[in-house]
Amino acid sequence: MNTAYRAIGIDSIGVYVPRLYVDLTAEWAKVRAPVLTRGDVDKLVGKVVDGVGVRRMAVVDAHQDCATLAAMAAKRVIDASGIDPRDIDYLAVGTETTVDQSKSMAAYVLGMLERHYGVSLAEVGAPQFQFACIGATYALESAVSRIRAGDNTKPYSLVIASDVSKYPLRTAGEYTQGAGAVALLICENPRVLVLERGLSATVTRDERDFFRPNGQSSAVVDGKYSIDVYLDCMEAALDAYAKRVESAIGVGADRLYEAIDAFCFHVPFPRMAEYASARVLGRLWSSSPEARARLVAEGASAEGMPRKDFERALAKTALFRSAFDQKVAPSLALAREVGNIYSGALYLGLVSFLEETRSERLAGRRIFLGSYGSGASAKVLSGLVAEPYRSLVDGLRIRDDLRPAAEGGLRTPLSVAEYERLHELSDRERGISVHAPRREFALERLGTSDSPERTDVGYRYYGWVDG
Ligand code: HMG
Repeated sequence: MNTAYRAIGIDSIGVYVPRLYVDLTAEWAKVRAPVLTRGDVDKLVGKVVDGVGVRRMAVVDAHQDCATLAAMAAKRVIDASGIDPRDIDYLAVGTETTVDQSKSMAAYVLGMLERHYGVSLAEVGAPQFQFACIGATYALESAVSRIRAGDNTKPYSLVIASDVSKYPLRTAGEYTQGAGAVALLICENPRVLVLERGLSATVTRDERDFFRPNGQSSAVVDGKYSIDVYLDCMEAALDAYAKRVESAIGVGADRLYEAIDAFCFHVPFPRMAEYASARVLGRLWSSSPEARARLVAEGASAEGMPRKDFERALAKTALFRSAFDQKVAPSLALAREVGNIYSGALYLGLVSFLEETRSERLAGRRIFLGSYGSGASAKVLSGLVAEPYRSLVDGLRIRDDLRPAAEGGLRTPLSVAEYERLHELSDRERGISVHAPRREFALERLGTSDSPERTDVGYRYYGWVDG
């Protein structure tokens, strides 16, 4: 690898998951089984937990939205890293469930941080990147490029992925919802992950797999088709990435699997990462005669088998199971508890991997990041774990966030009635919170003035609430 360039990447990570959740194995399954599995509760629980891979999904309270989640994650990364917020000169958000059709959500977040820390961030650039779940990766790329080009005036950039994922109630999408935000602090000589320069590849296709027309708060999705588009785009991005790796560092496709120590994918639901692993690992192994022979011996031969059948057979092989357990599964633990957080899902997977492998020494290892957004675009990039990454893992609060109230934590299960009430609130209503805001950023009120002196109907006023 050419080491002459400056090391730029992720210095610290802040995660925020709202405390309310739906337990998909309890009352929700009983209420939904008549609609989704002809009354068979066990079948529905089996499908959701084993077939889709999720147990709980995070839900926002009435005073929370995508902007408050983003500001919470930003506060966490600023406080945990101990930086002065005035050392940030770029704040980019990636979101597909933004709070405004015109204003950048980053400007709302910037305002919350200014008021909270008592600082001016007036010279900070604050764009919003939108491309379904891949928006934050485009934001990350722009932050890294600015620093690499020397266009930054301060050492830090903040990239925030924040979303509230919603599908219509009583549909197959319902159990793949979630909510949460991940904030990444980007700088030179980062302490967590050095992104490898030139080792990234992008593909884009004009697709209808998943979209959310203006004025709608729930997504429209062609579920099974969306899986196919995800896999095809990921494969195309992998192929382009493999070519770049070969020309940049001389590692051919036949040795690429060994050169990657962990694979993190966009995780709309954990089984999707398993399908993506079968596609990506199958593709990498197809270049290795030794791996191909092992797969054939285990009944998975790419020749003469329809692709779906081959990938199903491959997913059952000992070669795949052991690779998946070691290089992918640790990245999925948090998604089982949180659900799909859209633009932050890949980065939650990265955090999950770092958390779940606490007993290992990861410094110097290569992590593959497979980002995907419907509509559709995929990006594959990679990073090398930095030496001091452990200090980040020790400072993460995500496990505390996810501890249920019954075990001394703050996480609160919702009844189906409360969940449905919150689900049906529109962006134009505040509704009553399940828990009044406390020590958090909150949507305080919606503007109602419509006079010659002041017009702010529907404007969102946010603030920090000590409670
Ligand atoms: P579905 O109808 O709930 O599930 O749809 P299914 O019938 O396809 O079954 C799923 C799996 O559960 C299957 O496993 C079943 O066999 C198994 P597989 O055969 O594939 O290995 N199963 C069971 N297992 C154990 N016990 C049982 C049982 N029953 C069945 N009793 C779907 C699932 C994901 C399509 C649906 O939930 C959906 O539409 N979700 C939303 C769309 C989505 O997440 N798409 C993912 C790709 S697109 C993407 O990632 C982008 C996105 O994040 C948005 C963005 O970019 O902004 C969504």
